[in-house]
Amino acid sequence: MIIRWKYIYETGIFVIDYRNKKLVSLINEFYKYIFTEDIIDHAERIVNKMIIELITHFSVEKKLLKDYNYTPESIDKHIEEHDYFIEKLENALKRIESGDIIVCYKLADFLRSWIVKHMLGSDKEFASFVKKANRITV
Ligand SMILES: [Fe+2]
Repeated sequence: MIIRWKYIYETGIFVIDYRNKKLVSLINEFYKYIFTEDIIDHAERIVNKMIIELITHFSVEKKLLKDYNYTPESIDKHIEEHDYFIEKLENALKRIESGDIIVCYKLADFLRSWIVKHMLGSDKEFASFVKKANRITV
């Protein structure tokens, strides 16, 4: 269940990789409690933490997207993915607060698929744009 950090997830942009690793470790913390009796209490605490972390994470990334003159369409697409993720977490949190355990299990699958897809997709796309723009070779 745990997401093991892989080299392939790295974008080569320190701030993005740093934030992504933080998010992956919060997701893994969530997995740690998924089959325990007090999953609801932990899920509430961890999802709250995730939302707080993501507010910084996404605002740092948004600034980067703009600072590197990413195309407006690509910025919109990237931001849309972030907004969708936050919205999902906020909705899940409301259901967790009402004691809904099923939402924790659904969230477990969603977290993994969203973060892996986002890191390998939109974050990588942006990183290769930055590298080309700056002629950085790796
Ligand atoms: Fe992103």
